[in-house]
Amino acid sequence: MVSVEISKDVFWVGAIDWNARDFHGYLTKRGTTYNAYLIKDEKTALIDTVKYSFSDELAKNIGEIVRFEKLDYIIINHVEMDHSSALPQIIKLAKNAKIIASPRGKDALIKHYGEGIKVETVKTGDQLKLGKRTLSFIEAPMLHWPDSMFTYITDGGILMPNDAFGQHLATSGRFDDEVEESILMEEAAKYYANILMPFASLIARKIQELVSMKIPIKLIAPSHGIIWRSNPMKIINAYKNWSEGLSKNKIVIVYDSMWGSTTTMARVIADGIASQGIDVKFFKLRESDVTEIVTEILDAKAVIVGSPTLNNSMFPSVGAFLTYICGLKSKGKLWAFFGSYGWGKGAVKQMMESAQKANFEVYERAIEVQYVPTEKELEECLNFGKDIAQKVKSS
Ligand code: FEO
Repeated sequence: MVSVEISKDVFWVGAIDWNARDFHGYLTKRGTTYNAYLIKDEKTALIDTVKYSFSDELAKNIGEIVRFEKLDYIIINHVEMDHSSALPQIIKLAKNAKIIASPRGKDALIKHYGEGIKVETVKTGDQLKLGKRTLSFIEAPMLHWPDSMFTYITDGGILMPNDAFGQHLATSGRFDDEVEESILMEEAAKYYANILMPFASLIARKIQELVSMKIPIKLIAPSHGIIWRSNPMKIINAYKNWSEGLSKNKIVIVYDSMWGSTTTMARVIADGIASQGIDVKFFKLRESDVTEIVTEILDAKAVIVGSPTLNNSMFPSVGAFLTYICGLKSKGKLWAFFGSYGWGKGAVKQMMESAQKANFEVYERAIEVQYVPTEKELEECLNFGKDIAQKVKSS
């Protein structure tokens, strides 16, 4: 993809990864982009690079705008390799460029690329004058790595927050008004849920900090997906809501099954929830995308997890799911559990212990049936769904 001028003398020079389907375990069904930006002024600055496999594309895009010996600065907002692994190739071409990162960014760059890399550090409030434009730096630790930093371009009001406000979405359009809004917000929510959810309280504070700085924001140019220009506040407000845990009257059922008993229980629990007028989402783990399940959990008030017992333990797919969601530190939801077993219990106890260890709010009642649920046990499942729906309604 050729470069795109996103504002006067500010160019998108990144790469579109149309074929990306697995981003360290996150299923990117619509691909992704690695956004890098070039600012041409009296001095020239590159903001971030791309994944190493797109180094040639980045180099070509830069080279069509500026001669490499004229590249003065390379700003590294974040060292994760999808943004920095083209740096070694770019440094070889841009021999005069100074590399700039946060102090923790410097440490991480040295750890990734060796002691030979020379990095100057900046802190929140530091500025770099390019000419008409000035770059201001805002450290954003743990959004989502310790090194993360935002770069703000005065004279244009462009915020480059790296991973924050991004989406894994490969499109030919570079701006929010060039893609379908429902797809864009779905991908933005998925990105937040699967990458940023553990840092909700830090995000809420960073948004408050940004708002209190009263800097004009005309464009938000993240490092993945499209650039927010038609209404940058839309994604800021969405992050505010997500980070504050704004949720809907929605319950997500996540389960797996061996011979159908847990499926039968899940279906009846879903009927009980729906009978109370509460939206229910239903996922059998081995037939679903965990990335999408987590997106549904983001704004749900309760999650009900079911598992058969296998070898006195929860089913492996359920174990993997709980490991993932506990790591994401999902907050403010009610978690309930059910399952089936043959001759020895284990799954429900193990699931509840995992959730308690993660400090989830766990519903005190669980349902566990032997072999195949009886009519009476199915009645219990129906009531279980109804009771949790009522709890959600009254919360
Ligand atoms: Fe897009 Fe944290 O890397």
